[in-house]
Amino acid sequence: MRVWVLGAEGLVGRALVAALRSAKVDCVATGKAECPITSQESVFSYMEKHRPTHIVNAAAYTDVDCAESNKALAFAVNAEGPELLGRVAKQGGVALMHLSSDYVFGLDCKQPCREEERGLPSGVYATSKWEGELRLRSVYDSACIVRTSWVFGSSGKNFLSILPNLLKTREEIEVDAVQQGRPTYVKDLARALIYLLSAQGTFHFANEGVCSRYVFAQALADVMKNQGVHTARIVPSYQNKGAGRPVYSVLDTAKIAGAFGCPPRFWKDTLIEIVL
Ligand SMILES: NC(=O)c1ccc[n+]([C@@H]2O[C@H](COP(=O)([O-])OP(=O)(O)OC[C@H]3O[C@@H](n4cnc5c(N)ncnc54)[C@H](OP(=O)(O)O)[C@@H]3O)[C@@H](O)[C@H]2O)c1
Repeated sequence: MRVWVLGAEGLVGRALVAALRSAKVDCVATGKAECPITSQESVFSYMEKHRPTHIVNAAAYTDVDCAESNKALAFAVNAEGPELLGRVAKQGGVALMHLSSDYVFGLDCKQPCREEERGLPSGVYATSKWEGELRLRSVYDSACIVRTSWVFGSSGKNFLSILPNLLKTREEIEVDAVQQGRPTYVKDLARALIYLLSAQGTFHFANEGVCSRYVFAQALADVMKNQGVHTARIVPSYQNKGAGRPVYSVLDTAKIAGAFGCPPRFWKDTLIEIVL
């Protein structure tokens, strides 16, 4: 087995490569500069040179706000990219796993969304991710799509990932208390991705439990205080801001829990690992 991870310099890609290497799985990793998924030539020549048995696409345009004014680029990376990888993987008889997002379910959700439910995305980022799923499925039906949500880890640049540093260095931080979601610890996600490497179909993976970012920040601050770290005062914000961010965005994970034989662990139980 040889796994090619694209987007290997991102939060998920980096954790996956680390997990593969520690599991002694042969793996090759590329970032945007080495192999842009918007370049057919780069993808084909990398594929030809390294001959992977599995491809994982963790590359994406993930800036939800900037996507609103960079629609062409967001769609090139998030929609055309997976289609290109699907064609290449199918042609080479290679397994393909693609990462997608809870945001594909859009603004009107009131209860956890299951894998087979239809996407109803809002905003450029979410729409580009949904189109990426559809385009991939249309060219390579047996690919594996893993949707996740609210991913956090020590090397990330998103809000949940930089929270430990904000809590440590600021006097006060304001945190959204409106949106509800399921936080996902990136190392748990990486283990699930390895488990699903040869799977087909669509899966959801997120840690157990639903919360707001405000509740997440409070729980993280409690863990940090228990470790003797002074933390910022946390102020709740009730203004839902930003492009197409769902107020309630919760993935149903019964399918992966069934495959694992138990549900993913509770998000609060993972926090100590990003504090230590
Ligand atoms: N983080 C979350 O909360 C979250 C939630 C739900 C789903 N997801 C999904 O999980 C996957 C991984 O996200 P992540 O959190 O790891 O995001 P990330 O940290 O932004 O990583 C994405 C990586 O893709 C790279 N990239 C951008 N354009 C590229 C291109 N044309 N070719 C190759 N690489 C390119 C980025 O490089 P630059 O940074 O240099 O642009 C970055 O290194 C994505 O599919 C995302 O939609 C993430």
